[in-house]
Amino acid sequence: MGVTERQRHYLDAMGIPVWISRDAAVPEAAVDDAVAFDVAAEWRALEAQVAACTRCELHKTRTQTVFGVGSHEARLLIIGEAPGADEDRQGEPFVGRAGKLLNEMLRAIGLQRETVYIANILKCRPPNNRDPRPEEVVSCEPWLKRQIELLRPQVILAVGRIAAQNLLKREERIGAMRGQRYHYGDGEIPVVVTYHPAYLLRSPKEKRKAWEDLKRVRRLLSE
Ligand code: URA
Repeated sequence: MGVTERQRHYLDAMGIPVWISRDAAVPEAAVDDAVAFDVAAEWRALEAQVAACTRCELHKTRTQTVFGVGSHEARLLIIGEAPGADEDRQGEPFVGRAGKLLNEMLRAIGLQRETVYIANILKCRPPNNRDPRPEEVVSCEPWLKRQIELLRPQVILAVGRIAAQNLLKREERIGAMRGQRYHYGDGEIPVVVTYHPAYLLRSPKEKRKAWEDLKRVRRLLSE
């Protein structure tokens, strides 16, 4: 009985060599249980590391870190910019007005918030919601990278300029990035870029374009 590709990925990510005897009759369900247990432990360990992070100055002003939320089985990963005041208080990304709109956007393509995973470029709130500084993004990057390794999403949706530019290492305006085909990392995960829900609250006319982006997400998820 072999190890599936997905199981092998998790075992590799955890640095566990796969030695399976040709004759070994390990029930697949037992391998699944063991992998799921270890992956859950990896997520918990990562969250604890993030909670204790002091890599940049933002740890001094945060109420708490905002790690990310959602299903560890999610096929869609949504990446935003950084926690705002509501998120800093509640410890969860996208819980304010922009979060409500994000939930509606997800519902429009038949997804519940609980079934996707939501994270940010930064895990701590920048004071007065200023833009993240380059050194803060660099400090925080390994955490998001590890989340992506553990999750292995089928599609990433980057919401807003800051998320798109930092994830994709590009400098174009959001309007120029929307509608382009991008990929993240060696796994070549497709990345869809769209407007930030906070911007859509200010510019509802642009919702039509965001709807086009969401339809692309839906198509990619169904492939
Ligand atoms: N805006 C973001 O980019 N992320 C949040 O978590 C909340 C608002």
